[in-house]
Amino acid sequence: MTGPVPTITAPTITLAAIGVDAAHEAPTSTPGHAGTGTSGTGTSVTLDSGSIGLPNGPTGRPRTEFATPAPLAKTGPARIVALCNQKGGVGKTTTSINLGAALAEYGRKVLIIDFDPQGALSAGLGVQSHDVVTIYDLLIGTARDPFLAIQPTSIPGLDVIPANIDLSAAEVHLVNEVAREQTLARVLRRVVDSYDVILIDCQPSLGLLTVNALAAAHGVLIPLECEYFALRGVALLVETIDKVRDRLNPAIELDGIVATMYDSRTLHGREVLDRVVEAFEDQVLETVIGRTVKFPDASVAGVPILQFAPDHAAAQAYRQLARELISRGAVD
Ligand SMILES: Nc1ncnc2c1ncn2[C@@H]1O[C@H](COP(=O)(O)OP(=O)(O)OP(=O)(O)O)[C@@H](O)[C@H]1O
Ligand SMILES: [Mg+2]
Repeated sequence: MTGPVPTITAPTITLAAIGVDAAHEAPTSTPGHAGTGTSGTGTSVTLDSGSIGLPNGPTGRPRTEFATPAPLAKTGPARIVALCNQKGGVGKTTTSINLGAALAEYGRKVLIIDFDPQGALSAGLGVQSHDVVTIYDLLIGTARDPFLAIQPTSIPGLDVIPANIDLSAAEVHLVNEVAREQTLARVLRRVVDSYDVILIDCQPSLGLLTVNALAAAHGVLIPLECEYFALRGVALLVETIDKVRDRLNPAIELDGIVATMYDSRTLHGREVLDRVVEAFEDQVLETVIGRTVKFPDASVAGVPILQFAPDHAAAQAYRQLARELISRGAVD
């Protein structure tokens, strides 16, 4: 992999810059705009971060057209990225699924590890998580070959190692193991050459499982919901990443913070994003994921939004996120 993450200087943020103006509020009137996700409730707006004629994107930085990535000459070794935030319901699983699908669309071979006993990622990708080999079996050693746990999805190039509620017992099992924090890293070492990217969908906690994910990862992507208490707890997460860097995994990098569930039509949403950018500056990715009911709908269907509604602005946003991460060197 990968060079250093380029530094982007964030310009002064104004509310106008993040979309108060009428043109931004009425995206259908903007030529070249990919559209607005609307729901029956009328509450969903998905931002098209690639619009023409708007100088700045929702983060207040100038919009960038991230190039379509070139195909890779060979597969692997994978860069491992943990999607982490101990706050629940911020979009970790949704981002794992749809970023994984977008990277696969760009020809990357992607494996996602469901690392949450709720098994939401396995369900969201329509894979079996009962009566099959799961990540739990690999962690505690009742199964030794990770390839036996890998399941294909409906997206070519996107595979999953599932989880179910058994995984909630893993922390107790691991606690007396030697090098208990490195257990997942040992499992992934066996598959790393068969993939270009491995995403780990963490559970909402900073317990031993999440520490295992951080110990195994090259990078961390933090999904952050654009709501009032979003920033609470992020300092603790960053502190945890720093501790893991000191003690377990010196090479781990913060790949970025991705703002999710953004509603450009509310002052609240814009203010929260403004504060997130003030606090984290260029660590906030330019791609912002808008709020739309298409996500829960796609989850029910057990497919990524890229397949459920391939032309929807939310699907485009995840493609842009994939291109942005590739252009920043966070994945190949
Ligand atoms: N951009 C979005 N717009 C609207 N709803 C969304 C969006 N992203 C995710 N959701 C919905 O919000 C809920 C929580 O999302 P998700 O499961 O991805 O979060 P999570 O961080 O993985 O949660 P947990 O901490 O419980 O694992 C889900 O119902 C999902 O469909
Ligand atoms: Mg989740």
